[in-house]
Amino acid sequence: MVYGELKIRSYDVQIHRARVEDLERRCEVGPTKRVVLFTDTMGDPICRIKNSPMYKMLIAELGSELVGVIQGSIKLATVHKPPKNLAKLGYVLGLRIAPLHRRNGIGLRLVLELEKWFVANDVDYAYMATEKDNEASVNLFIKKLGYAKFRTPAILVNPVDRRALRLSSKTEVAKLRIEEAEFLYRKLMTSTEFFPDDIGNILRNRLSLGTWVAYQRGESWDGFGSDGKFPSSWAMLSVWNSGELFKLRLGKAPLSCLIYTKISRLIDKIFPCFKLSAIPDFFSPFGFYFMYGLHLEGPLSGKLVGDLCQFVHNMATKTKDCKVTVTEVGGKEMLRPHIPYWKSLSCPEDLWCIKAMKNEESTILQLPKTPPTTTSLFVDPREV
Ligand SMILES: CC(C)(COP(=O)(O)OP(=O)(O)OC[C@H]1O[C@@H](n2cnc3c(N)ncnc32)[C@H](O)[C@@H]1OP(=O)(O)O)[C@@H](O)C(=O)NCCC(=O)NCCS
Repeated sequence: MVYGELKIRSYDVQIHRARVEDLERRCEVGPTKRVVLFTDTMGDPICRIKNSPMYKMLIAELGSELVGVIQGSIKLATVHKPPKNLAKLGYVLGLRIAPLHRRNGIGLRLVLELEKWFVANDVDYAYMATEKDNEASVNLFIKKLGYAKFRTPAILVNPVDRRALRLSSKTEVAKLRIEEAEFLYRKLMTSTEFFPDDIGNILRNRLSLGTWVAYQRGESWDGFGSDGKFPSSWAMLSVWNSGELFKLRLGKAPLSCLIYTKISRLIDKIFPCFKLSAIPDFFSPFGFYFMYGLHLEGPLSGKLVGDLCQFVHNMATKTKDCKVTVTEVGGKEMLRPHIPYWKSLSCPEDLWCIKAMKNEESTILQLPKTPPTTTSLFVDPREV
């Protein structure tokens, strides 16, 4: 391959849209032996970044052929301990190289070009997330580009049954107003790693369906924390309707999953009164709800997190095409055992890698080596 012919330029919707969509359709992400999720951006290739404060998409062309794409976004978020906790973060995502042009240095060139945009915009750190067994991606970022392994949160995916689940009669679920939710997040989560400074923009976005709290029936919570009083145990989460932006589709699935899907659908058809869950059809494009900003306090809060997840599941049953609920939680988070998920659809260790963009002798350079400042990690729904 002659590198001189490679041209990298900004994405132009008029010129590149159809070819980028085609490339996305042809690219599997991750190792080929396991379940593979394809994304369907429904005619809008920048849908995954366009809700971020700043974003960019680059394309690589060889002659008239579009051979690669990459996307990036920039935001201000918590990285260090207070008081100087905020840093400018550049997120790298959506790197895809056409299968026939891989291993020719195009992926590397695209990342380097995106990093130039980060530097021009005063970014402190660049970071990216990948499956830990995506060898090509891990080698590219860690060996070639000097990124360091940072955190390994788990992506937990749960199928949405057509039937609503029964919530515990001892649990009260209440929806917060956006101002109440923003107040609570700023009060409780500003020191959480990667907490976005513009949380208000996320909560006000039309894709954010709301924030809910769960607490035990009988306890009162009129002020929702504004008076400093909270129930003895409570949990909170927000929901983002990712399915309105893009769809997912399963590429391969373990045989056990396929067989169970078929049998359970058959039984469901013949004996609808059976309480066996019918597994959704994951082979046609489907949407999902992303649960973010999960927080819990008090001895019984784990159970309340579970109740909130059921509540979200029931909301999802009413949304056309919403076939899974998804969340991403830090490796050691207390709430993890309380979130229902399917192992075969989930990713136990999503690998986050980070790289300092500034050559300053400061604690910044130590960041990848430091243990998490808190056990929790805020996963921005705009970056899913
Ligand atoms: C990951 C991907 C973007 C790499 O793009 P690429 O253009 O083939 O990568 P490059 O040619 O620039 O490779 C640079 C380095 O990455 C590593 N690398 C790339 N492909 C590799 C592979 N298949 N196996 C092992 N290492 C690999 C190597 O270290 C390579 O350097 P080298 O060729 O000098 O050994 C490409 O394989 C792809 O599109 N994969 C599917 C989508 C995906 O997984 N994206 C990443 C999501 S974060």
